[in-house]
Amino acid sequence: MVQLAGGMSRLGTESAFEVLARAKALEAQGKSIISLSIGQPDFQTPAHIVEAAIKALKDGHHGYTPANGIAELREAVAADLNRRHGVDINPGNVLIVPGGKVTMFFAMLMFGEPGTEIIYPNPGFPIYESAIKFTGATPVALPLLEENGFAFKAEEVLRLITPRTRLIILNSPANPTGGTASKEEVEKLVAGLVRHPHVAIMSDEIYGEMLYDGREHVSLTRYPEIRDQLILLDGWSKTYAMTGWRMGYSVWPKHLIEHATRLSINCHSCVNAAAQYAGIAALKGPRDAIAKMMSAFDERRRFVVGELNKLPGVSCITPYGAFYAFPNISKTGLKSKQLEVSLLEDAGVASIAGTSFGSHGEGYLRISYANSLENIAEAMRRMGRFLEKNRKAAE
Ligand SMILES: Cc1ncc(COP(=O)(O)O)c(C=O)c1O
Repeated sequence: MVQLAGGMSRLGTESAFEVLARAKALEAQGKSIISLSIGQPDFQTPAHIVEAAIKALKDGHHGYTPANGIAELREAVAADLNRRHGVDINPGNVLIVPGGKVTMFFAMLMFGEPGTEIIYPNPGFPIYESAIKFTGATPVALPLLEENGFAFKAEEVLRLITPRTRLIILNSPANPTGGTASKEEVEKLVAGLVRHPHVAIMSDEIYGEMLYDGREHVSLTRYPEIRDQLILLDGWSKTYAMTGWRMGYSVWPKHLIEHATRLSINCHSCVNAAAQYAGIAALKGPRDAIAKMMSAFDERRRFVVGELNKLPGVSCITPYGAFYAFPNISKTGLKSKQLEVSLLEDAGVASIAGTSFGSHGEGYLRISYANSLENIAEAMRRMGRFLEKNRKAAE
């Protein structure tokens, strides 16, 4: 019998992929399933981006690129961060990686080991906790509460720091809640973080261009006083509907970029060359397709929140970012996982239990509204019928 390394038993997963597989299996049996589970835009990548990749292939860009990415792309990333946040980023500190996840895994590998602590949002993207545990570090949950709009409180983050803390993970706008951090809390946090120079921060800003109701994204890159501690995680997957292209980037402090690049060389050499040219077109090209996508998301967001609040036993606060709603389902009398399974098997609606995002997700369900208004409306009717039946059965 082969023997696995210890870390393998500690590695978790992202249950969105498991729900997707079960939904596909049910569809193969002829059942109608509406998916409100997947974390990707239901839009095609804009045509000019696709064309740029085709052109790159035709132009003969078939070989390795520099491990940290094509210079023009890293310059375009720096220019885009300047456009969005008014910050000066040295393209030499930018690393192009195959998707947002790679940055988080690299950050965990760089800082996590037995005896150290990593603070992560809970509920939060499940790979954070999984990758922390894989390294042997202790995951320290930062609870994100509904009463705070699922945004962090600076005081709470700072309170969790110990001499063993190596890394803090932050994510705004957030998966799975759509919560967004306020400028006031970000500034309080930054003021506190400067007193802990031994702590690195990984700010996952992959939904940074997906905000609603005039909310402003407060990027941590805006604060030069923590620049030496900050790793920015961002990428193309969500903003440009490019999840399958595997295109992400990170910005590292000067003293860490070489380590991160060495991890890239050991892991994947470089990112697919044609995809990098597509990334340049995305950053430099027209933004009308993105504006259209965001206005569709906004319409669905308002619709889904309204409908969720009409369901028996369900209440849902308004999310201000990403494309997720995180309704409170505790008054249905069902546990999150129970409701996820029943909705999929009995009602034909795929959603994700809040507990898939950490222990503090009990009592909630993640609803991705990356689906058409018609499908969302039908999903809400199905959920309504199921929950009504459930309510009557409990009487
Ligand atoms: C918060 C967050 N960070 C990172 C990622 C990973 O993005 P990618 O598909 O580019 O690896 C996701 C994807 O769902 C996410 O929700």
